[in-house]
Amino acid sequence: MRETARIADELIKLLQSEGFTIQRYDSMTTSSIYLKLDYGVCNSIRIGDHKGKRQYKYRYNVDIGRKQVNRHKTPEGWERWYYPETALRALVKDAVLERKRLIAKHGQEQYWVLMAQRKFDNQGNKGFWQNAKLVSQMDIGGASVDYQVNEKAKDALNRLSSLPGMHAIKEQVDEMVHYSRIAALRKNNNLKSSAQSNHMIFTGNPGTGKTTAARLIGEAFAEIGLLKRDSNNDIPFVEVHHSMITHPHVGEAEKRMVAKFEEARGGVLFIDEAYAFVGKSDARTSEKVVATMVQYIEDMRDQIVVIAAGYPKNMAEFLSLNPGLASRFPTIIHFPDYDISDLVAIAQQMLLEQEYLGTSEFYEALASVMWIEKSKANFGNARIVRNHIERSVRRQAMRVARLPQPSRKDLATLTGEDLVYSPQGVQNSEIEALHKIIREAQARLFALDLKGLIQRTL
Ligand SMILES: Nc1ncnc2c1ncn2[C@@H]1O[C@H](COP(=O)(O)OP(=O)(O)OP(=O)(O)O)[C@@H](O)[C@H]1O
Ligand SMILES: [Mg+2]
Repeated sequence: MRETARIADELIKLLQSEGFTIQRYDSMTTSSIYLKLDYGVCNSIRIGDHKGKRQYKYRYNVDIGRKQVNRHKTPEGWERWYYPETALRALVKDAVLERKRLIAKHGQEQYWVLMAQRKFDNQGNKGFWQNAKLVSQMDIGGASVDYQVNEKAKDALNRLSSLPGMHAIKEQVDEMVHYSRIAALRKNNNLKSSAQSNHMIFTGNPGTGKTTAARLIGEAFAEIGLLKRDSNNDIPFVEVHHSMITHPHVGEAEKRMVAKFEEARGGVLFIDEAYAFVGKSDARTSEKVVATMVQYIEDMRDQIVVIAAGYPKNMAEFLSLNPGLASRFPTIIHFPDYDISDLVAIAQQMLLEQEYLGTSEFYEALASVMWIEKSKANFGNARIVRNHIERSVRRQAMRVARLPQPSRKDLATLTGEDLVYSPQGVQNSEIEALHKIIREAQARLFALDLKGLIQRTL
């Protein structure tokens, strides 16, 4: 095998693992090999064992026998970089950086559009393009790309990503949005694309942001076009609760459920405390209503996102109620309790929105208070933060009202004394909460030790 071909193979592997679309052209008269990245949106590579006149056209040049990397600029201002065959990783790193810079400049969406345009433009060209082989296709481009995320969808997605915590749902939504983009582009390119179910189950304690996330997802999905809509009216967000549906008449209860689905067409149907449909005295009604639910969830698949929320244990019961349910909710997302730093970040965000500023004493005190709140049963997460903030805002008003001439800064600032707490009380409860955690950790360690001991003796 030619030396250049061996190097090309090695380089292609490295570039593939970085997700580049690669085209390769092996010169017929010399041993040089040329690689184009992302249809030429990124710079190209020449692998050669001699100085050819063509090398001057390339940003990246692998020169067999060269000793060192040299990043050189021509008198005309062109960057020409040279790598020995032992420094392929440095080349790939540079190419990845270049792509990052382009994506930062144009945005990911536009970068894909550029790729698609280049691909299209090059199709009729002679020379390299006619003879090059596509070795690795990571592209999403096609002849016509009209897919764009509109401003409203971006806004909803940005609001979701700016919320502290909620990592699992952010990742999930990202995946769904990307899937839908690619599905649309595949369709443009006459490739098969299967519809995915967007229905989800949210589990988590009170105040972990389930309803907040569901609303934002509804907005984003509707704007992206994941949900088919008849009109441009507001995107419906319909909450259903067991109590709104129950009725002694089976027929009536079903009718109410159907009405909710109709109301939510083009948006989100949010079934809160979904497990409340399980095991009520009117079990037959529940079963019927759930059967209707299952049917509508399926029939309105592309017009509605159904999100069923509740506590983890209860949701498992809900899913076992009807064999069709579990398969219709392929995605289960758990919203964990917020940790202290998330809770403080949430407080900061809430205050900023209302144009208040907390002093560092305020946030320190809040963190201590949250420690104690977190150790209580039924901790209300972000909702508790909101309650504390509201109380503090009221107390601040009382305090500032006593000042003879409050300044703008006085009006905007929350200090430690605005938070309802007794420093002594906080300290004691905090110590108690810490002791509880330490006791639990010790018990857990002991259990693990014991397990290890048993395993070793068996
Ligand atoms: N990550 C977050 N950042 C900022 N605010 C949040 C966050 N999570 C929740 N909140 C706020 O906390 C409050 C409660 O949130 P939400 O109603 O979404 O919780 P939930 O999980 O639906 O609770 P429940 O189970 O009780 O219905 C809301 O006022 C919401 O704005
Ligand atoms: Mg809720």
